[in-house]
Amino acid sequence: MDSKQPSPTNEPVLREHVYDGIQEYDQKLPNWWLFTLYLAIAYFVIHWLCYYQLGLGSSDEMVIDQAIAEMQVARDKQMESITDEQLWALSRDTAAVEAGKATFMTQGMCVSCHGPDLSGTLGGAKLPGLPLSDKEWKHGGTPTEIFKIVRKGSPDVTKGMAAWELMLGMKRVSEVVAFVLSHHKEGEPVTRAADSPPLAAPAAAK
Ligand code: HEC
Repeated sequence: MDSKQPSPTNEPVLREHVYDGIQEYDQKLPNWWLFTLYLAIAYFVIHWLCYYQLGLGSSDEMVIDQAIAEMQVARDKQMESITDEQLWALSRDTAAVEAGKATFMTQGMCVSCHGPDLSGTLGGAKLPGLPLSDKEWKHGGTPTEIFKIVRKGSPDVTKGMAAWELMLGMKRVSEVVAFVLSHHKEGEPVTRAADSPPLAAPAAAK
């Protein structure tokens, strides 16, 4: 295309075309520059192969997911040792109670056995679950006892009260307990039910 001028003096050759009065030299690209280009191409191939095809290394998304998972584990650990006072405080936290209510009222969840008014009945008919709005508690009426039964389920598996921790995780369990507690007053007298498991049992069974 461009007819090249011989360059006996090794001087840069001026190409013939002119665009808007601008001319250019016909220079070979410097080797160091070409080297970085080839290096970038090689890096791309290796990166594409390892990262996108073989799945080696973790993406930003995976790093973030892992960090969140670690935070959740840490939070769950903290909740293991949640106190009565902290659960009462949570029962006064409107956001937590609302979140707990949403879980409780979800079709097929707590509401279907304990009733929308927590009375354990629906339209006068008895539901499978115990009333949660009264002051008699089969498995103990302190917030941490309620928290435990919701987390771990009934010690009598034939009763149908599941271990909700597995399904909901600790945070949502704490919220749903906050919702139950919002129907109660801190310091109100609680009684145990006639068919409560012996008192030593809940303490022994961690
Ligand atoms: C399939 C029916 C069913 C569902 C769903 C259910 N429960 Fe229960 N729940 C029961 C039964 C039955 C018992 C009584 C267990 C026993 O007698 O040991 C119980 C007991 C309890 C107790 C202890 C009551 C006491 O007197 O000590 C609490 C608190 C409780 N449930 C909360 C919940 C919450 C919160 C949910 C939703 C996350 C839930 N339950 C979902 C059936 C259910």
